[in-house]
Amino acid sequence: MKPIKACIFDLDGVIVDTAKYHFLAWQRLAQELGITFTEHDNERLKGVSRVESLKIILEIGNKTIAEAEFESAMARKNGWFLDYIHQMTPEEVLPGVQKFLDELKSQNIKIALASSSKNAETILQQIGMLAYFEAIIDGNQVIETKPNPEIFLKAARAIDEKPENCIVFEDAIAGVEAAINGGFRVVGIGLPEVLGEADWVVRGFEGFGLANLQSILQ
Ligand code: BG6
Ligand code: MG
Repeated sequence: MKPIKACIFDLDGVIVDTAKYHFLAWQRLAQELGITFTEHDNERLKGVSRVESLKIILEIGNKTIAEAEFESAMARKNGWFLDYIHQMTPEEVLPGVQKFLDELKSQNIKIALASSSKNAETILQQIGMLAYFEAIIDGNQVIETKPNPEIFLKAARAIDEKPENCIVFEDAIAGVEAAINGGFRVVGIGLPEVLGEADWVVRGFEGFGLANLQSILQ
């Protein structure tokens, strides 16, 4: 088995359940635009950038809007999203995450973050998790959105590791694809029927440790 030298984590839906806040904010915007937007539609937005998310919503509603309106719609959505984020506390870190990260640290396995969100640092700060990550690559540092592997390749470079020695943790279909496209091994966080392309899928980090990771990847 190839060694596990680093773990690269997505943020939204892996470390913390911010997907619900994204959904509520996008739904409010969709309502303003006269578009019906469901939780099922929201799956398509997971892992993709803010710009791509709005494009998908407009496509669902079969609508086009002028560039200035597009920009102001994204800004409104982000304002509502940040209202939720600023209420977050460390209690919202998903079960088992902190314990798993502590175990990785104790074994000298590097930890990096690769999130499409431009709010990643704000969220990590809010939930008290900023100090865990040796490198943080977020939506401000990439051109391409997942499933392009750019974000994971940049994260691996930032911690000086080859993709084949890193494990990616992802909850989004686009994110799992991005990791595979970059030559990473990937653990899906969620449901096997959604994330079937991942090397392995687990529900979450509760009761999950390095020994589990080593055995599933064998
Ligand atoms: C990803 C989320 O982490 O970040 C997406 O899964 C979101 O749903 C994307 O659209 C961009 O987030 P932000 O905070 O920059 O609008
Ligand atoms: Mg995610």
